[in-house]
Amino acid sequence: MTVLEIKLIPDPVLRKKAESVKVVTNDIISVLNDMAETMYDAPGIGLAANQVGILKRLVVMDCSTDDEDPNLIKMINPEIIFSSTEISELEEGCLSIPEHKSIVKRPSNIKVRFLNIQGSEEIIDAEGLLSACIQHEIDHLNGVLFVDHISRLKRDIIFRKVKKQIRENEK
Ligand code: NI
Repeated sequence: MTVLEIKLIPDPVLRKKAESVKVVTNDIISVLNDMAETMYDAPGIGLAANQVGILKRLVVMDCSTDDEDPNLIKMINPEIIFSSTEISELEEGCLSIPEHKSIVKRPSNIKVRFLNIQGSEEIIDAEGLLSACIQHEIDHLNGVLFVDHISRLKRDIIFRKVKKQIRENEK
């Protein structure tokens, strides 16, 4: 397994729509394994393929808390098939927007359908952190970032700070 380079904003790959996976091949499974390794190394609780420069509909996540066993979930072609009208607010961050967090409003409960690494369909009901994480990662596959869900003012502040960080890192 390999730790891959995580793409940071404003990399254009983060704004592209990823393509569906037609067949679950060994290459796809190997990408998912590398993505999991990259996520744990970061460390983060979720990673979408766009974030490592691969435009395929693949996500990995592990939303377990420190006192729980690891719960690595790998999803191929995830699709939200139900969203509650009830809304929850949670603080989100993103490995592609380091050091910035913001409260994001999203549907509280969702149902997601995806293919597992055996190529069979699975459906998961999610609430709380897992629900927000799944929605955040599927957003990535559509070129959407968590900052797109917050006010333009807050987003502009984050983008300005990130540009400044990049300039300073280049010095
Ligand atoms: Ni993210």
